[in-house]
Amino acid sequence: MIYPIIPKPQKITTGDTVVFTLTKYCEIEGADKFPKAINSLKKFLAESFSLELLGTGKEKIRFELCNEISADEGYTLSVKADEVIIRGRTEAGIFYGIQTLKQMLMYGDLSLCSAEIEDEPAFPYRGFMLDSGRYFFTKEAVFTFLEIMALHKLNYFHWHLTEDQGWRFQSEKHPLLTEIGSYRSHTNFNSVPHSGYYTKEDMKEVVEYAHALHIKVIPEIDTPGHTVSAIAAYPFLSCFDRNMVTATKWGVKHDVLCVGKESTFEFMQAVLDEVVEIFTDGIIHIGGDEVPTTRWELCPHCQKRMKDEGLKETSDLHTYYLSRIGNYLRDKGMEVIMWNDRVKDYMPDSSLCWQFWNTDMDKKDIEGEIKKGRSFIISPERAYYLDLPYGLVNLKSCYEYDPYIEGLTDENKHLLKGVEACLWAEFVPDMEKAGYCTFPRLGAISESAWTKKENKSYENFSERLDGYYKHIKAININHATLKQAIPTGIRKTASTLYWERRKLCWGGLENLITNSKIQKMYGKKDK
Ligand code: ACM
Ligand code: ZN
Repeated sequence: MIYPIIPKPQKITTGDTVVFTLTKYCEIEGADKFPKAINSLKKFLAESFSLELLGTGKEKIRFELCNEISADEGYTLSVKADEVIIRGRTEAGIFYGIQTLKQMLMYGDLSLCSAEIEDEPAFPYRGFMLDSGRYFFTKEAVFTFLEIMALHKLNYFHWHLTEDQGWRFQSEKHPLLTEIGSYRSHTNFNSVPHSGYYTKEDMKEVVEYAHALHIKVIPEIDTPGHTVSAIAAYPFLSCFDRNMVTATKWGVKHDVLCVGKESTFEFMQAVLDEVVEIFTDGIIHIGGDEVPTTRWELCPHCQKRMKDEGLKETSDLHTYYLSRIGNYLRDKGMEVIMWNDRVKDYMPDSSLCWQFWNTDMDKKDIEGEIKKGRSFIISPERAYYLDLPYGLVNLKSCYEYDPYIEGLTDENKHLLKGVEACLWAEFVPDMEKAGYCTFPRLGAISESAWTKKENKSYENFSERLDGYYKHIKAININHATLKQAIPTGIRKTASTLYWERRKLCWGGLENLITNSKIQKMYGKKDK
């Protein structure tokens, strides 16, 4: 039989006769040594089959550590008469063996044919990003995403916590960030206010929940752009101390942090000190995407900073800011990630990892950064952005995107840490839409993250989708049907048009009006 396991294990052989049926009498050997693995199995059995293990029968599931498995997260799984044996080099390996077993049990309604599996991940970094900035997702919704990540063998939860449209990280030193910045008076398509933030206790719970699933949490505090919510709370953070409200519309904003004032750095560093205390995995994302220089051109503080630091172009303030914040965090022992927005002569230190979303860059520039030793994570907009409609990124193109970008050689391919699926949320207001956007594309991306390139095939992946849908439906989360996920004809056009309606609520016109007002007030006057 073919087990429809997603992501596909590297090696799997199976028989055609049932040799093992899990009942409540099944005994687990080694359970006390691997609490995370056993808890994941017990939760699955309780939720999907209302089954509680009593452990007195002859069938056994055995967990064992095994040094012969070379990869840290690797495992073997063997199904024989009345016995399932899962071996891992570490508990993480055993945990991933359990994720595979859950899918096999779901497919076989608790009965298993004989099987031998040898498995390990293609990439050490297998990420999923949730944008809680645009829409607030409850702590419970975050737990659901974490469970789903584990099932897909994903191990880094990137939590986008701040945006123009909402600041979700509670700061004790700067309470207005959430008191003012977590609220917007309306959203794109309706006039209903939207708000919400995570308390420190909430975020600690999320970190704890993630750790129980072998997931590390990377908070993102996106600066110096995408900061209108922070400026609404503390106007001095902007050039010209602008009085603003948290953004209600979609689109890149021109009001960004003032890089000239020292007070901006003092403020942000104090916030980041609080962030580092809560998120204990030693990794942080500092954003750095989409930063117009319009205000910096006119701001006397920013112009003075350029002069003092010998910066040639206004856009060099972008690098100056990211370098300073990056170094501050690196000196605290943090690994730092940023979006890959620009390549210039003056770039942040190559120890800052690039999250690669902008694929429009010149190949030579990318190669240059690779030569410098910059590591990167692949999240191309036109393949791994889950908010994009299926008409633009269908399941097949999502699956077939090759993360091994040009410029990588055998000597430097270790710089490619892995891949990440990004669920941006400006047009994803609830779990229903989130589920629709995410499934089945997350299955495709998880296979690019876990399964080695030589073992991937879209045809084979499609044959496993029935089993995948069975599992997703059992989790009780929304999903796109196969017809929706690979739309053709009118369905494809409709999907794209529905997406393009966002242009109706783009803040571009507002930007033009404001920019001209600021130019009049602060621009150089012609004599
Ligand atoms: C991004 O999509 N602006 C990272
Ligand atoms: Zn300024």
